[in-house]
Amino acid sequence: MIVLSKEKLPIQREQDVILFRNRIKELATKTGMSLVNQTKLITAASELVRNMLRYGGGGVTQLEIVSKNSIPGVRLTFKDEGPGIPDVQQAMKDGFSTGKSLGLGLPGAKRLVNEFDIKSEPGKGTTVTITRWKNGL
Ligand SMILES: Nc1ncnc2c1ncn2[C@@H]1O[C@H](COP(=O)(O)OP(=O)(O)O)[C@@H](O)[C@H]1O
Ligand SMILES: [Mg+2]
Repeated sequence: MIVLSKEKLPIQREQDVILFRNRIKELATKTGMSLVNQTKLITAASELVRNMLRYGGGGVTQLEIVSKNSIPGVRLTFKDEGPGIPDVQQAMKDGFSTGKSLGLGLPGAKRLVNEFDIKSEPGKGTTVTITRWKNGL
């Protein structure tokens, strides 16, 4: 895997999300990703950035264009220093929410991308990384 471009965008309030989503769209377009796959990536990213704001108190996103076996893709990292998730396995289940909402954000986001990684340490924060390849299913 090689990194072709990398940038960071802090997310502290709702307005930051608009810029973030627009930037993902630009990067995904650069890779030649189809509109359907762009929409999947942006939908997943929206859920994760919303979690970061709501539960993590904001944080920093990293947006990268990456390439593996000459196939380009977009990799996004969401890093917050919030309370963390005590039981990640539970949080990944459909319908689990501590926020009285649908509880589909994390599992839904996982289904919309090709690679999904979550690391969380209570008291330290949460980092989620997702990748969508140009030609991924
Ligand atoms: N960045 C985060 N920091 C702390 N807790 C989180 C974070 N993201 C998700 N969670 C926890 O995981 C649960 C499930 O998240 P999600 O699947 O998006 O559902 P929802 O947002 O509807 O609660 C949340 O209710 C919350 O307890
Ligand atoms: Mg959510």
